[in-house]
Amino acid sequence: MGQLDNKTALVTGASTGIGLAIARRFATEGATVYLTGRRRAELDTAVAQVGDRGIGVQGDVSQLDDLDRLFAGIEERSGRLDIVVANAGLGDYGPLGKITEEEYERTTSVNLKGTIFTVQKALPLLPDGASVILLSSSAALRAVPGLGVYAATKAAIRSLARTWAAELANRRIRVNALTPGPVETPGGDELRAAFPQDNQSAAAQPAAPTPLGRAGHPDEVAATALYLAGDQSSFTTGAELLVDGGATQL
Ligand SMILES: NC(=O)c1ccc[n+]([C@@H]2O[C@H](COP(=O)([O-])OP(=O)(O)OC[C@H]3O[C@@H](n4cnc5c(N)ncnc54)[C@H](OP(=O)(O)O)[C@@H]3O)[C@@H](O)[C@H]2O)c1
Repeated sequence: MGQLDNKTALVTGASTGIGLAIARRFATEGATVYLTGRRRAELDTAVAQVGDRGIGVQGDVSQLDDLDRLFAGIEERSGRLDIVVANAGLGDYGPLGKITEEEYERTTSVNLKGTIFTVQKALPLLPDGASVILLSSSAALRAVPGLGVYAATKAAIRSLARTWAAELANRRIRVNALTPGPVETPGGDELRAAFPQDNQSAAAQPAAPTPLGRAGHPDEVAATALYLAGDQSSFTTGAELLVDGGATQL
């Protein structure tokens, strides 16, 4: 018996990092899992890791046509979605004074527009009692010089979890924000490497050692996603769960 037997889940941005770990864990717990990502080869490799319960759908969450195609395919194949994890996200190093329009568009279109339309377009497929999980970031809870735009999108995501939880409560659909601190992933490592070496004050380091003395592992975020996805968290909605080694709280 798995915790997610007979459930159908979508994890966006699941070809690497946190999304892949969540997809793997959900499938291990019995769910059928749709994985998305833009790069075909990485997505195929991820689906192979997830196994028989993984279904890859190539696409970009910031492109509404791609989302329409994704949800049409899920409707045809599965008919419903019990769990949505809006995980696809990225960030650029860009201190005030150096923010470019291109970086602004890239970050907001994936993190904010992508999250909003992923959940909105999933809505017709969500049964009463479904679980929606939005990936925020500890960068939204403390000042990380150089991550202003990224942090603003992640603060907005935390806010969306509150509003949507209220809007969907009458259908018992729960919406929660899952907020990692520094986690070792290709995207997280790349973003941290983009910080200039001469700007490594403690406050400027998104990977500053956590009180637990290390960065997190994607599987540790996946364990919390499993909690939010399933019945164990049946009385939790509009909340934010931190997986940050205590970094923002201690
Ligand atoms: N790692 C950390 O330290 C950390 C900390 C706090 C929050 N987070 C958040 O956790 C989430 C996952 O991050 P991660 O560290 O696991 O990143 P990652 O290793 O870069 O993985 C991101 C995944 O999203 C996909 N993706 C990116 N843009 C996409 C788009 N427009 N449409 C569809 N898929 C897209 C990527 O594949 P393609 O490039 O092929 O599309 C990849 O599979 C993000 O929302 C991130 O902001 C991460």
